[in-house]
Amino acid sequence: MRRKNIAAGNWKMNMDRAGAKALVEGLVQGDFPGEVGMILGVPYVYLADAVSWTAGSGIRVAAQNCHPAESGAYTGEISLPMLKDIGVETVIIGHSERREIFGESNAFLKEKVDAALAHGVQPVFCCGEPLGIRKAGDHAAFVESQLKESIFHLDTAHITKLIIAYEPIWAIGTGETATPEQAEEMHAHIRTLLQSKYGQEASDSISILYGGSVKPGNASDLFARPNVDGGLVGGASLDAESFLKIANAF
Ligand code: PGA
Repeated sequence: MRRKNIAAGNWKMNMDRAGAKALVEGLVQGDFPGEVGMILGVPYVYLADAVSWTAGSGIRVAAQNCHPAESGAYTGEISLPMLKDIGVETVIIGHSERREIFGESNAFLKEKVDAALAHGVQPVFCCGEPLGIRKAGDHAAFVESQLKESIFHLDTAHITKLIIAYEPIWAIGTGETATPEQAEEMHAHIRTLLQSKYGQEASDSISILYGGSVKPGNASDLFARPNVDGGLVGGASLDAESFLKIANAF
């Protein structure tokens, strides 16, 4: 199965309820190709609303995080059964802000990926290197170890349920985008790793998104690369017009 092109938004800790509603309504009413998957990464407190605002539109609502345990003494955390309970079937796992600010390790992210898949929730698994690693030329090996330690234990039936997002940390929220060549180089590397472990058919079926200062002005150049199957978009996903332009940039 040929992989899907995807425009995924990551709202992070932004928006109020009225703004979220207006943004979702703008997207639901907006035009983008039916074959492009749209995913919105919404703050926890607006998830249930977003599920109802997007009902019947084909737009998927994603949580930005989850806890791997079913339930229990984890003050402040949200479980996968809770997400499922309100109709959320996608979750962003391993965003660099979770890794860097909240200290989430590859091993902990592995638990989250396993728990999400066990509950039938699709992970958008994020990877990507910090600036120092890029400057040292170690980015390919760094991303490879993130994948090996968090998702390469999966079997083919499970890995093919994932969306992978490559987000070089130095390009997130900085206005500095990886060049399409830099993005393609890493995406091709990831695809090759997938192919050698899971075979051609599986590796061809997995969407690999680029994230880091994707904007209407650079999206089509990025998405034109053979292994860049869309974007995980922060700042530019907070405005319906700009996010729709990105969803139309394939
Ligand atoms: P940005 O964020 O588009 O604002 O750089 C991307 C992300 O962190 O997912």
